[in-house]
Amino acid sequence: MSMYKIAVIGGDGTGPEVVREGLKVLDAVNSKFDIKMEFTPFDFGGERYLRTGEVLPETAVSDLRQFDAIYLGAIGHPDVKPGILEKGILLKLRFELDQYINLRPIKLYPNVETPLKDKGPEHIDFVVVRENTEGLYVGAGGNMRKGTPHEVAIQTSINTRMGVERCIRYAFECARKRNKKKTLTLCGKTNVLTYAFDLWERTFHEVGEQDFPDIKREYAHVDATTMWMVKNPEWFDVIVTDNLFGDIITDLGAMIQGGMGIASGGNINPSGVSMFEPIGGSAPKYTGKNVINPMAAIGAVMMMLDTLGEKKASEAVETAMVGVMQQMKSMSAGKMGYSTTEIGDMVAKAVS
Ligand code: IPM
Ligand code: MN
Repeated sequence: MSMYKIAVIGGDGTGPEVVREGLKVLDAVNSKFDIKMEFTPFDFGGERYLRTGEVLPETAVSDLRQFDAIYLGAIGHPDVKPGILEKGILLKLRFELDQYINLRPIKLYPNVETPLKDKGPEHIDFVVVRENTEGLYVGAGGNMRKGTPHEVAIQTSINTRMGVERCIRYAFECARKRNKKKTLTLCGKTNVLTYAFDLWERTFHEVGEQDFPDIKREYAHVDATTMWMVKNPEWFDVIVTDNLFGDIITDLGAMIQGGMGIASGGNINPSGVSMFEPIGGSAPKYTGKNVINPMAAIGAVMMMLDTLGEKKASEAVETAMVGVMQQMKSMSAGKMGYSTTEIGDMVAKAVS
């Protein structure tokens, strides 16, 4: 029997509502597979910041290090200036806990509508491995003469051999483990970003040639990647890319898999504490209405179980999700044919 300590950050807006449904499903799957979990709530988010003036308490990172995983709802509050909570909570945790992979499965499930004409579940099933601790997100740079006509703003992308290599290795492993097309596509911009993506490209081929001869290597510029994701998503198996490109293409990925209602992501430190979240954000206009789709948050639970090594439990959650999605009218908030809590109940019941 396994015992896990899980930190729960409901966060802002609809975050707590969808997390509640995810925990409902976790309870059901845990009792079925005899998994023991202990949940500890943390009140990080916009409300706490507005109340206390503090984004994260000083002990937050060291406290969170004591857990096996973090389950996050959403961060973002309409009354807080953009950037404060994102940088102060989400990015800080990713960096401090060295969650160097942002894992985003792009999978279209049966009965889920995609905006792509003539594409179905057999065409949309790939994974984006986004580097999560470097690149333009590091915040390297500065400005001078701010507010004057001579203002200068510099923001630099940081790419280290170590950071790039560990991300690329993870992506190769991922392609091997999936055992589907056995193809890893590097998404970059080697024709313009000739320093950063030169490092990425050399590392990609060196690591691939040495340690992953069984995995086919492909390359696509980021602009072309967005084009192929729409036109021929079936070409992709695993895509590896840097932090900013990954941020952009995974929102496109979320749309082609049926929208923010079902897109989940993992911030992974393979030897540390990982954090799982629905990627849709706090959706203030739907808050408290019991209309938001909790499927993405339930998908985050599935990813968490998988990362913890509870494969059977993870698969059981996915099977239950698929069954419930068959009964839903839409994946969009307010149009599902069921309420948030009803969907949670249905998935939990299907798991049991
Ligand atoms: C994401 C989000 C974040 C990011 C924001 C909220 C800082 O868009 O997880 O993709 O840019 O990484
Ligand atoms: Mn994003």
